[in-house]
Amino acid sequence: MKLFTPTLLALGLLLCSPGFAQVASQDFDSIMLYTLKNSSGTTVTVTNYGAIITSIVVADRDGNMGDIALGYNSADDYMNAVDKPYFGAVVGRYGNRIAKGKFSINDVEYTLAVNNGENSLHGGIIGFDKVVWDATPVGDNALTLTYLAKDGEEGYPGNLVVSVTYTLTEENELKMHYQATTDATTPVNLTNHTYFNLKGEGEGTILGHELMLNAKKFTPVDEGLIPTGELRDVDGTPFDFTTAKAIGRDIEEENEQLTFGGGYDHNWVLDKEGKEGEMTLAARVKEPTTGRVLEVYTTEPGVQFYCGNFLDGRLKGKAGKPYVHRSGLCLETQHYPDSPNQPNFPSTLLEPGEKYDTTTVFKFSAE
Ligand code: GLA
Repeated sequence: MKLFTPTLLALGLLLCSPGFAQVASQDFDSIMLYTLKNSSGTTVTVTNYGAIITSIVVADRDGNMGDIALGYNSADDYMNAVDKPYFGAVVGRYGNRIAKGKFSINDVEYTLAVNNGENSLHGGIIGFDKVVWDATPVGDNALTLTYLAKDGEEGYPGNLVVSVTYTLTEENELKMHYQATTDATTPVNLTNHTYFNLKGEGEGTILGHELMLNAKKFTPVDEGLIPTGELRDVDGTPFDFTTAKAIGRDIEEENEQLTFGGGYDHNWVLDKEGKEGEMTLAARVKEPTTGRVLEVYTTEPGVQFYCGNFLDGRLKGKAGKPYVHRSGLCLETQHYPDSPNQPNFPSTLLEPGEKYDTTTVFKFSAE
């Protein structure tokens, strides 16, 4: 497999003229790397392997550019690293867990590929993060990636045509627009699994990042990280991020949910205030030393806040620095985990003739 070399990245950037957002690509067999760029110098690189966002380079409060997304320099690493933490990828057909890899639709039971203890996680063994998508640049600042997931793939029913369009705007927003159609009823839950470190990838932990989550409730889990079905108030618990606080402030508190997650690895129920299905603010993260800020907006009802509890320093990033425990945070906008088995959660079933259509925006700034 060919490398995403620094030269490749440089070439991609050279093809972009200042003042205009542009998309540039280089062909490496069927694995390509695309660069989106806007006039403030923000760049986002994306590969058609797993629809992975491989880098996000943004300014800090002094104008210093830094790459805030964890990942690798080569396609080889994405495919063959000892562990596959879904860096930057689109996960699907069903993001997060489905209990015991089983669910029923109209009394027909389906059995999925199981890859996380007894459960199915992020679409199974070969999820959407491990397949090659078709890529089409759209205009000069966007890229659409398309994939056909065949009926029966990883155990899911229905041929699913899925696409994600990444658009980098002049307002420093990365928009992710997901669409899908199916020919048989199937659960669908798509999200992006970028790990952020607003200090810069490889620059230590995210415990000092200040996080606000627009959510008064979360979905507690069992030992296998499967929701119990309860929507629990965050008030008075370490899960209260309604007012911004450092991620590390309460993370070591004695709390059964923190024990089960090895830290934060839970779904928060977003406060939509009657705006279900509309784009609302889900989260705001600020890194105090650089002043970099990430805001997340979404049409989705939930967000999985995962703080890199499974990172342990074995994987090395783009600058060769180890990704230590909790050195990246994910804000995976989504429907709640295990919805196909939870009658009280919003449905994730897509029917033939319907269109799955969700949007999430990552907005970058510094203050
Ligand atoms: C999600 C899950 C975590 C973990 C990561 C990937 O956030 O909830 O438990 O699987 O993805 O490592």
